[in-house]
Amino acid sequence: MKILVIGASGRVGTELVKQLLADNHQVIGTTRQEENLFNDNNYSQLDLDITADKNAIQKQIDQDIDAVYFVAGSGGKDVLEVDLHGAIKTMQAVQDKGIKRYIMLSTVFSLDTSKWDNPNIENLKEYYICKHYADQWLVNNSNLDYTIVQAGALKERAATGKITVNDDNSGENSIEDVAITLAAVLTASNTTKKVFSMHNGETAINEAIAKL
Ligand SMILES: NC(=O)c1ccc[n+]([C@@H]2O[C@H](COP(=O)([O-])OP(=O)(O)OC[C@H]3O[C@@H](n4cnc5c(N)ncnc54)[C@H](OP(=O)(O)O)[C@@H]3O)[C@@H](O)[C@H]2O)c1
Repeated sequence: MKILVIGASGRVGTELVKQLLADNHQVIGTTRQEENLFNDNNYSQLDLDITADKNAIQKQIDQDIDAVYFVAGSGGKDVLEVDLHGAIKTMQAVQDKGIKRYIMLSTVFSLDTSKWDNPNIENLKEYYICKHYADQWLVNNSNLDYTIVQAGALKERAATGKITVNDDNSGENSIEDVAITLAAVLTASNTTKKVFSMHNGETAINEAIAKL
């Protein structure tokens, strides 16, 4: 498949591109950095800034892309422009191109405001509000074949290959496990129009996804 990864230079994006290339996909990764991120014949790069206007973003996206991942984020510095408006503009651009598949990396409990009294979330309130409405737009306003993967805290740890999905509690994730999960979602037909949360746990990733 030909896949666009928005945010290919990030911690998750880097691991995700590695996974997708290992799975023999053709990957276009976006970054505003000049340096080429991956030396692989199946990889090419796009200098994309999602704070640009929607039409400019749309012009940069190839028509024949099979799936788009959104793993970009402002890191709390520009939540309105990047995590909310930027994300939604990519959904609109992708939809207007006629591309259907869109996989969003979001955050645990993004759509469940009743869980936001947790102090870890209280401290990230503006980011949470932005992810909440971006995810809502994807679910309620787009006709995209979305999957929203809501990860708990991202940690630079070796992969375990095991996760728990849709738990009542949040938890930590190996970044590599999040990337493996995102890559596995692409080919699992039961993940379309689904939202699920994840953290490291006890079930093999493919088994956990198959049960969604
Ligand atoms: N941190 C956590 O514990 C946690 C937990 C759950 C979910 N998440 C979600 O996971 C996402 C990815 O996390 P991460 O740690 O991999 O992020 P990261 O390392 O900070 O990477 C951020 C990515 O976003 C891109 N980006 C930032 N501003 C942009 C812009 N204006 N236009 C285009 N691209 C832009 C960066 O690209 P450039 O190369 O162009 O700078 C980079 O590829 C977060 O943003 C968050 O929404 C995080």
